[in-house]
Formats: sequence, C-alpha cells, structure tokens
Amino acid sequence: MNMREAPGLSAILGVGSAVPDRVMTNADLEKIVDTTDKWIIERTGIKERRIAEPGLVTSALCEKAATRALDSAGIRPDEIELIIVGTATPDFIFPSTASVLQERLGVKGQMAFDVTAACSGFLYGLIIADQFIKSGHCRHALVVGCELLSKIVNWEDRSTCVLFGDGAGAAVIGPSPDPDRGIIACTANADGSYWPMLHMPAGGTRMPTSAQTVEKNLHTISMEGNEVFRVAVRSLLDAATKVLKKAGYKASDIDLFIPHQANERIIEAVGKRIGVPEERVFKNLERYGNTSAASIPIALDEANREGRIKKGDLLLLDAFGAGATTAAVLLRW
Ligand code: ACO
Repeated sequence: MNMREAPGLSAILGVGSAVPDRVMTNADLEKIVDTTDKWIIERTGIKERRIAEPGLVTSALCEKAATRALDSAGIRPDEIELIIVGTATPDFIFPSTASVLQERLGVKGQMAFDVTAACSGFLYGLIIADQFIKSGHCRHALVVGCELLSKIVNWEDRSTCVLFGDGAGAAVIGPSPDPDRGIIACTANADGSYWPMLHMPAGGTRMPTSAQTVEKNLHTISMEGNEVFRVAVRSLLDAATKVLKKAGYKASDIDLFIPHQANERIIEAVGKRIGVPEERVFKNLERYGNTSAASIPIALDEANREGRIKKGDLLLLDAFGAGATTAAVLLRW
C-alpha cells in the first residue's frame, strides 16, 4: 500500500445488495413457534424475512452484493485496495470472510479484514475506509455488510427468531469526483459494559464448543430485548445528534434518514426525536427483518434504485448493534 497525495472527500461510488430467494413470512413462523402475524407486525413492523437456502455461505452472498456494487461503480475488483466485511456471522472464526471474498473476486494483494461491530459493522467499515482514502493510503475500498443470522438464531425462541433475516449489501468507496459530494462527517463509539444484553454465549474462548454447549443451544443469539430497545433508541439519537453538530447541519437539512432496520418502533422513536419527518425516513424492514450489518447497505441500495435519493441529497446513516456499538455517517450523495 503506497501513500499518495490525499484527495478531498471520499464518496460512495457504487452500491449493491443481495438477499437469498427463500422468503419466510410471519405465517410460516406461526407454524414454528407460539407467535402471531399480528404480534410480530405490531411489536416490530416485520412481515417477512429472507432465509438462506442450505449450502449458502456468507462469503458467497458477500460476493453477489460486492459484484453489483463494483458494477454500479464501474470499478474492477483489481482496482480495489482495501476489502472490509462487517459481519457477526462469518464463514469461519478465522480466516476473515474478507479474505475468502478476496479469493472469490479473483484478486490478491489488497488489505482484507473483517469488522466485528454487529449491526454497526457496515458503518464502522465505511468510516475506516473513509480514513484510508482521505489519508491517501488507498484509492478504492470495498465495504460489505453481510449476515446469515438464520444460522445462529434459536428457532425455538419466539422472542428472537421472529426478528432476524439474512442478506448482504456492499459499497465501493473512492475519491469523490465532485468536491461538494461525499462523506462529510462520521462518529462511532461503543459501550462495552452492555455486552451481556446481546451476545452468542458459546463458540469463543469463554465457552468453547462442546457437546454440552450444542445440547443447550448456546451457539445462538441471546438477547434482553427490552434493554436493547432502550439503549438502541438512546444511542442512535446520540450518534445522529453528534454527527449533525460536527458538520453544522440541522435535522431539517436531511433529505433521507437511513437508520439500522431493527424495529419499526425504534426507527419511529429515533426519527421523531431527531426531528426528521416520517416521509424522509427510509424503512424496508417489513420485507427483510433485522439483517444486522447488512441492513444499512441493503436500505441504501434500495433507496437508490427506487429513486428515493437524488444527486446532491444529504443522507444520514445511523446504526446500533451488540457491544453496544454505534455509528453515524453524514454524506452528500
Ligand atoms: N410472539 C408473541 N409473543 C411474544 C413474542 C412473539 N414472537 N415474543 C415475545 N412475546 C411475548 C413475551 O413473552 C411477553 O409475554 P408476557 O407479557 O406474557 O411475559 C410479551 O410478548 C411482551 O414481551 P416484551 O419483550 O416486553 O415485548 P416488547 O414489546 O418489548 O417487544 C422486542 C420485544 C420486539 C424483542 C423488542 O423488545 C425489541 O425489538 N427490542 C430490540 C431488539 C432488537 O432490535 N435486537 C436486534 C439486535 S440490536 C439491534 O439491531 C438494534
């Protein structure tokens, strides 16, 4: 990696997403656990989610989304100098899914690593890529958020299994072709004291895999939903406020607010408290559920393809996830 003259702003040059074909509706879930379509819609806003077909692996879904983002940016894989994958459901604990993706894209030599920041993984990756590009360390970066959460959901736990879905979204970042467009301001932080409220108990060094951990279903998501809800609202609001203040913008300047798609009630509470009118808040969680690190890039790609974003629009991206990680990015499209 050679240092070059630092460019001005870095910008998202292309986006893409990919989801598995298989749709699981709330009616399908009614057959698996003691739940109802009504409860899920009222408490979360989710109607259906995508579930990986057997054999699908995270790096393969990353590849699909990444290829679409590269095509939309008009950038070849060998022009990418940094590959970051945000995921909590990697192919392996090691090597990184970013390394496996690199091999799938048929390239080598780039820096490639995963970011473990749960639902904030894509924005953490975007912020890291922005620093590398702005400092002149690399010209083009590929940032992917991808999850196969269906592989780590406890399908007997109605309080979690109704929330999550599988998917991937990707963005190509590079020097902005226009000095007025690109990433204007970022903020990211974490409060590790909250780690117990959302985690996967087994499979790491704290509780290595054993016959008992498998028997007790400890390789699945453990969550205190009410606490996550409270901390999520507060953290998303804090990050949004901070990034707007940093850049000297007001809520009324935002053309589209794209928050992490976890729960409709979280999104509405945050949008209202920031002061963004409902028509400027992007939501697609009714079709995908919570896809964690993939949720913001999938939403960004859909908003772009649906014509919800115009050149020059001010976008606020805002994420919260396990750990308790938070990140917000303000950018001009
Ligand atoms: N179907 C029917 N009833 C259910 C279900 C279900 N799927 N799940 C829970 N219930 C029941 C509970 O057992 C409880 O019953 P009880 O009153 O008899 O004890 C009742 O519904 C209320 O449960 P609560 O947990 O209080 O329901 P709440 O309104 O808080 O909604 C939810 C739960 C949806 C999990 C909510 O707390 C939430 O969305 N939290 C945020 C979680 C989240 O988004 N996590 C994702 C990861 S982090 C992130 O992405 C931000």
